[in-house]
Amino acid sequence: MVMSKLSVSSVVLKIPKLWFTPFYKSLKKQTGECISFLRGVVEHHKATFDSNDIRDIIDVHLQDNDDECGTEEKLPRSLIWRGIFDLFAAGTDTTSNAILWGILLLTQYPNVQEKAQQEIDDLIGRERPPSLPDRLRLPYVAATLMEIQRFRPVGCFVPPRAASVDTELRGYTILKGTPVWVNLYAVLHSPKHWKDPEEFIPERFLSADGKRTETPEAFIPFGLGSRICIGEQLARMELFLFMTNLLQRFTFKIPKEDPKPNLAGELGITLSPGRFRICAVNR
Ligand code: HEM
Repeated sequence: MVMSKLSVSSVVLKIPKLWFTPFYKSLKKQTGECISFLRGVVEHHKATFDSNDIRDIIDVHLQDNDDECGTEEKLPRSLIWRGIFDLFAAGTDTTSNAILWGILLLTQYPNVQEKAQQEIDDLIGRERPPSLPDRLRLPYVAATLMEIQRFRPVGCFVPPRAASVDTELRGYTILKGTPVWVNLYAVLHSPKHWKDPEEFIPERFLSADGKRTETPEAFIPFGLGSRICIGEQLARMELFLFMTNLLQRFTFKIPKEDPKPNLAGELGITLSPGRFRICAVNR
């Protein structure tokens, strides 16, 4: 909810008084509930911490930091919740929306859905669930997941960055400190980089013999440079595991009585497909 109602350029970021209006108050309340929940989880970890049994990233932070002072590399204990909040905020909505886009787009491109299912059937079968080592063996599925991320990138705009020095770019002067928004959607749909960018064509990511994927330079759904998404590997694993396991068992369709879904999406902090109903038909 918070992610779908706020955008990276929300006016509230410039006019903080707006947090006191009913709309933003309710968003703030929901964020507050998330924060209390995470603080509770960190407190529980502190109370049950055992250096011989490191359970997760919160324990790693607790192990590293035995006081309240942070350094450039380490979070002070009092701010561990904040680090976890950032991972949740950046990792949950993005990944779940990418999976939703995948399901929605495959209903609109049933031939792609069928081809991906065929590849899973041929190489894995219906008995054993797909697992990560299968990734390299399923090039068409991998190419489809890439095309889903190109066609409807959930991270349309990267979070605002600022120029660290005065910069000249194509005749424009960007002064140090100027906020900069990078439009990833434009890069992923630019006719300069993609043939028929408005068409959904997984094959664009396949080598000529169809046996492996190829990654064009302009394929940057996770951003670029030193602030590239730190969750890229995790997100790619999640996308692969969710989508292959779902496609192995179900065929997705829009219910006959429903209108054709609007594929433009809804732009908040992330680009989401909005609400739609789905039939998951057992295969
Ligand atoms: C499909 C899923 C995801 C997409 C499309 C995505 C996309 C992005 C993009 C475009 C950026 C900005 C990069 C830039 O400024 O150049 C970003 C940053 C970030 N992402 Fe992701 N992300 C995804 C999943 C995740 C996950 C699962 C996590 C963590 C568990 C995560 C954590 C982060 C963090 C912490 C940043 C900020 C990095 C920084 O500012 O240095 N993301 N992500």
